[in-house]
Amino acid sequence: MKITHTDSISGNENLIILGKKTSDFSQWLANDQEKNYLKNQLAKEKASVAFNQYNRLVFIEINEEKETLTTAGQLEQLRKAGADLTRKLNNHDLESVCLMQVDNDRNALFAVAEGMILANYQFLNYFKDKDKKQNKLREIRFLTNQFSGEDSRELEAVTGAVYKTRDLVNEPLSYLTAERLAGEVEKMGKDAGFSVEILEKKQIESLKMGGLLAVNKGSIDPPTFSILEYKPADAKNAEPYILVGKGVVFDTGGLSLKPTPNSMDYMKCDMGGAAAVAGAIYAVAKAGLPVHIIGLIPATDNRPDGNAYVPGDVINMYDGTTVEVLNTDAEGRMILADALAWAKQYKPQLVIDLATLTGAAHVAIGEQGMVGMGNARRDIMDLLIESSFDIHERIAEFPFWDDYAEMMKSDIADLKNIGGRTAGAITAGKFLEHFTDYPYIHLDIAGPSFLKTNDSYRMAGGTGVGVRLLYRFFKKISG
Ligand code: BES
Ligand code: MN
Ligand code: ZN
Repeated sequence: MKITHTDSISGNENLIILGKKTSDFSQWLANDQEKNYLKNQLAKEKASVAFNQYNRLVFIEINEEKETLTTAGQLEQLRKAGADLTRKLNNHDLESVCLMQVDNDRNALFAVAEGMILANYQFLNYFKDKDKKQNKLREIRFLTNQFSGEDSRELEAVTGAVYKTRDLVNEPLSYLTAERLAGEVEKMGKDAGFSVEILEKKQIESLKMGGLLAVNKGSIDPPTFSILEYKPADAKNAEPYILVGKGVVFDTGGLSLKPTPNSMDYMKCDMGGAAAVAGAIYAVAKAGLPVHIIGLIPATDNRPDGNAYVPGDVINMYDGTTVEVLNTDAEGRMILADALAWAKQYKPQLVIDLATLTGAAHVAIGEQGMVGMGNARRDIMDLLIESSFDIHERIAEFPFWDDYAEMMKSDIADLKNIGGRTAGAITAGKFLEHFTDYPYIHLDIAGPSFLKTNDSYRMAGGTGVGVRLLYRFFKKISG
């Protein structure tokens, strides 16, 4: 979406006007008939009223604080209103619209625009007639005195990053192998201004990243380990923040082939954590936030080929821990463990991983939020959770009691890679914690990373979940 500025509105420009019920909208309406119509609609508690004027469309959107809604709830409603507007504008094949307000509420304006842009996303790479399918809407114009250049830059950075993240998740394995994923992340780095170092199979072997190599054994495509770094001169943090993303470019389950009917259908989404890590660093770099961040992305597909790792195998991990594999479908933790151990060398002040890790997390809270847990200081955890509610990528915090770690002990090795029948999301987190020696937060995004149908501004397919959350968190921390 093109985001532009204008000092004045011409008479034939499509308009979205944000205001309160009591605001005076009359200067935008053509005649008394329209004014009366608006009055009637507002009396009926309508929050969105459309006028089909002879040379343009005018939408009046009411941003009214409702007693039952928090500020965050109100902003979410505005994002949803934005998504509805995008659909209406595209139904009319309109290319451009001016978004303005009669109040002075920058956050409200931002939320509507964000909802509009996120709902205009399409993934058309594989259609022969993609030009015909393309939404017509491609420009949002702001009044210069209502939305600054800085605001636009931030809006572009965040929504652009979500688009790129969604694209990565939506690309199937037939294109997006581990090597291609690394290549795409490298392109994002060149575009936004962060460095990307890609470790290849030979280097991964000489480093003895046993977890990543074990999962990769059933694949004919080599694994990759990407190291992203954004280090602006004005970074406020002395020690880096590290983001780790699960990059399983496709998960068949391996020899423990996925047992549930249809559960493999969408497993191209199993690199959703990796995509979110790349997307978050992209957004932070594009917006120029003063924070030093390192991203780590171990990547491979998980397949049952001739040399695939098998249940019973004992794997020597990168940090020397031995792991008894009892289910090859618990592969995410195998590759993440090596990345988490690798992270120790940076003496990070905090490590957050994002992973489509367990069906248990999905079953527990659905697509409505992500499961979070960790051992970071309470105020840091709270800041992340607060960020998650601010932008509506909500974290439900699960317990992270030490007792759960008992369930991951093996009879013949240091750990086993599955726990028992209960607390599957938590035991996975405890397995990962074993490989850390720093403050750590684990986010299981198996539920919200991929949708089968549209949900307002979250379009079917990859949602890009995690990007706006982490951007918000780093903005709070560095601002
Ligand atoms: N990638 C899956 C988890 C998943 C489930 C992601 C649903 C997205 C939607 C993960 O690798 C997996 O297979 N987990 C197993 C772990 C089990 C074998 C301990 C699971 O949750 O069943
Ligand atoms: Mn799996
Ligand atoms: Zn997986």
